[in-house]
Amino acid sequence: MFGKRTTTGTAPRIAVNPTASVPMKPADVKAPQAAPEPKAAAARAEQVQAERRHSEEYYDVKTTVFNALIDTIDLTQLAKLEPAAAREEIRDIVSEIIQLKSVVMSIAEQEELLEDICNDVLGYGPLEPLLARDDIADIMVNGAETTFIEVGGKVQKTSVRFADNLQLMNICQRIVSQVGRRVDESSPICDARLPDGSRVNVIAPPLAIDGPCLTIRKFKKDRLRLDNLVKFGSLSPAAKTILEIIGRVRCNVLISGGTGSGKTTLLNCMTGCVDHDERIITCEDSAELQLQQPHVVRLETRPPNLEGEGEITMRELVKNCLRMRPERIIVGEVRGPEAFDLLQAMNTGHDGSMGTLHSNSPREAISRLESMIMMGGYALPPKTIREMITGSIDVIVQASRLRDGSRKITHITEVIGMEGDVVTLQDIIVYEITGEDANGKLTGRHRSTGIARPRFWERAEYYGDTERLAQALSSAEVNDANGNPVRS
Ligand SMILES: Nc1ncnc2c1ncn2[C@@H]1O[C@H](COP(=O)(O)OP(=O)(O)OP(=O)(O)O)[C@@H](O)[C@H]1O
Ligand SMILES: [Mg+2]
Repeated sequence: MFGKRTTTGTAPRIAVNPTASVPMKPADVKAPQAAPEPKAAAARAEQVQAERRHSEEYYDVKTTVFNALIDTIDLTQLAKLEPAAAREEIRDIVSEIIQLKSVVMSIAEQEELLEDICNDVLGYGPLEPLLARDDIADIMVNGAETTFIEVGGKVQKTSVRFADNLQLMNICQRIVSQVGRRVDESSPICDARLPDGSRVNVIAPPLAIDGPCLTIRKFKKDRLRLDNLVKFGSLSPAAKTILEIIGRVRCNVLISGGTGSGKTTLLNCMTGCVDHDERIITCEDSAELQLQQPHVVRLETRPPNLEGEGEITMRELVKNCLRMRPERIIVGEVRGPEAFDLLQAMNTGHDGSMGTLHSNSPREAISRLESMIMMGGYALPPKTIREMITGSIDVIVQASRLRDGSRKITHITEVIGMEGDVVTLQDIIVYEITGEDANGKLTGRHRSTGIARPRFWERAEYYGDTERLAQALSSAEVNDANGNPVRS
């Protein structure tokens, strides 16, 4: 139907030289000597398949078939088809090419090739199988040859590779053009989003020396909730109740953590505690939050265009949302001078606002905030900035990815005031590592520091939640070997 050279319905869609055969050798894997067990045979077949994926011949054949296909089809016509019909059309033509070019391959190999080529033409090429998996947190492509993924908190290398950097660059371009952006030598850095909401960053040569780098934070199809975090061991049931109360009684919360430690996920979970009649405004660089409330306005920053114009910064968004009658303001990530505007909003009746920030401890989070405000050009003495911080932030929740790959909430900490020039913090719940099991997994526990009446007790009283809070705090207490509660 879309063969450029098709003249009638029955004419061949491509001109090929039937004598030019492209033999495809099976991979250099020796056949097993004895009849294998069914399970072992399946594993072996999988291994052969994986090794075949790597083989140079496979890529050679794929390139030959792919080029013949591109010569044959009219891509603009193909783009007008429904994805399923387009896939069918490509499959028909590729099967024909394989036959005409006398490519020697098994049915399974042919299926794999068909799938790969469909993904290249219609989707995100070699990334498709990775995008289809829901257990992957991050996909990190470092040039055409190397792709890493993060699964279960651990980074591992995959066998995925692209034909060359040009193919990778085309896929990057396809991704970013969906959100109306462009990536090339003149604008080599670009943030984008996949249609499913996954966050994407591309940095291309000449900035990326070894070829285009593509980083994807995969969007979880099933939104995580605080209950899931308890199931994963990231939180104890008592710590979960305390976080729920903190969210519900409108404390201003800062979620602090290193890169990929689970800040955005935790922020998302905590917004689950917000009442359904509140007006929430979210400000993000790349919209990742999935709030479930009915009254949510989502705002996203905008990078400058090619002429360097039209940029809308986080600061402008936060300032603007103050004019939108918000009841809560949620900032995806505080990283610059917007910190000042967020603190002011928190201070002036928008309590219950939340944000995340990159830092390794609650204490560091305070100094990061301070330096963000100073770098914003406000000529305020450090003590005034610290007073502003203590007047605005009620609770800092620290998320961390531990060395065994697990993600934990390691601190629920209150900001209680100032002593001289120093901001005073008070841990309520801490995660304590107690050891390591035989599989190298860290063991530990969330325990209370013995604070029976946190500073937000009054808020809890106002919302009628003190009983639940007292219960959660006392059940988080841990006794030492002598039966005395462990304090601080
Ligand atoms: N407690 C958890 N247990 C298991 N997986 C988690 C947990 N929290 C988050 N994740 C997963 O870890 C990945 C990173 O999470 P998230 O995007 O929340 O991190 P982040 O700290 O916001 O990262 P970044 O600094 O890049 O913005 C996601 O795939 C998420 O599903
Ligand atoms: Mg994040």
